[in-house]
Amino acid sequence: MRTVAIAAVVGLICTSVTAAAQDPVSIGAADVAAGRKAGMALSGAAMSAMKATIDAGGPVRGQAFAAGGVARWGRAIPGMFPAGTGQGALGAEATDAKDGIWTDRADFEAKAATFATEAGKLGDLARADDAAAFAAQWTVVRAACQSCHEVYKAD
Ligand code: HEC
Repeated sequence: MRTVAIAAVVGLICTSVTAAAQDPVSIGAADVAAGRKAGMALSGAAMSAMKATIDAGGPVRGQAFAAGGVARWGRAIPGMFPAGTGQGALGAEATDAKDGIWTDRADFEAKAATFATEAGKLGDLARADDAAAFAAQWTVVRAACQSCHEVYKAD
């Protein structure tokens, strides 16, 4: 009897844990757009700080944290663009995210992945304190920002 009761309780707990795990996270579309815009702006600030260090001929080793953050942001980008958060759904006032992000999803995700990979290399070069290679790679990462914006971001 006791065993049955315990089993029932355990069963209930497992059921509720499973249900909780399956519950979708609820976040408003406007909050998603605000969060990703902030992430984009901060990645731009990090890129500017790295460029200032490059131009000043400063030690690039100290930029490893910034570069690593930009790479992590790159890996997070696809998840920050869920369906229903583009211009078609929210309007051009609310977001610059073009609807091609969802109709050409594989290409959008490939661009985000390339960006993340190149930013990861930037972090490696910062850790190696290789100033010349870091400067060259910064330009590659900046181009990866642009190549996505050209197609998927409205002006
Ligand atoms: C894979 C695509 C992609 C990559 C890579 C990317 N962006 Fe963006 N970015 C977007 C999209 C799409 C928007 C529009 C987001 C919105 O308005 O909801 C955007 C918006 C922005 C904005 C405007 C934010 C605002 O306040 O409205 C800035 C600044 C920005 N990106 C900077 C960058 C920088 C700097 C990089 C590279 C370090 C970068 N982005 C890489 C797709 C990308």
